[in-house]
Amino acid sequence: MKKYRGAFIKNEREIGCLAEANRMVANILDAVGDIVKPGITTSQIEDIAQNMCKEYGVKPAFEGYYGYPFATCCSVNEQVVHGFPNQRPLVEGDIVSVDMGVVYDGFVGDAARTFMVGEVAEDVRKLLRVTEEGLYIGIQQAHAGNNVYDIGAAIQKYVEGEGFNVVRRFVGHGVGAKMHEKPEVPNFRPKMPGMPLHNGMVIAIEPMVTMGTWEVDILEDKWTAVTRDGKWAAHFEHSIAITPDGPKILSVSDRGLKRYAPQC
Ligand code: MF3
Ligand code: CO
Repeated sequence: MKKYRGAFIKNEREIGCLAEANRMVANILDAVGDIVKPGITTSQIEDIAQNMCKEYGVKPAFEGYYGYPFATCCSVNEQVVHGFPNQRPLVEGDIVSVDMGVVYDGFVGDAARTFMVGEVAEDVRKLLRVTEEGLYIGIQQAHAGNNVYDIGAAIQKYVEGEGFNVVRRFVGHGVGAKMHEKPEVPNFRPKMPGMPLHNGMVIAIEPMVTMGTWEVDILEDKWTAVTRDGKWAAHFEHSIAITPDGPKILSVSDRGLKRYAPQC
């Protein structure tokens, strides 16, 4: 594969494989969205993801990654990312961020969405809407001629203008044969401009947005990231290819691309 400053430039075939991997991830997230309601557990979300991976004949990308023990990350309320699925039933008013990856034919798909559990408070609905909208605002900047900086700067400006904050500790990334490739894609305005974006790059953009501080702590399980002030967080992620026609979202399910967060 061709390289530009350490970032892989993918050809059409490779982008096709990445699109297929991401389509599967998006289908899995659709199936998760269909079952999320009060009373279900995040273990059930994990089971759906595992079963669909078997049906598709693909491997979960996260399981075993630096020892991560599950196929999904299920992060509830003040959990930001990398939460472990467990047996605790979700209750009305919760939110759950589900992050999922698969490896198809040697290529990684990676996407995430935050779901509402039943009826959710109005300010939390706004959190979800702003996070998803922030993702799309970032995606609009992902074209050749811009650089990585433009993506995060646009996301941060929008999110802060809506009264929320962007987590700094975790960033988006190039994605390809490996889940994490160059470049790093901050969801905030980075100190350095970062590298220019080139056609053929595939990147995951994944804003994590909080209702309070952007600072996070890691729990004793060494994975679960929670907000330092306990306020709630949301996370939306798409994998996108940078093409001469502009950004192309790869994590699109068979149902087509939709906005998932509530309008309010
Ligand atoms: N979407 C996350 C990321 O891009 C998923 C990684 S979870 C891990 O970093 F367990 F695999 F690390
Ligand atoms: Co990712």
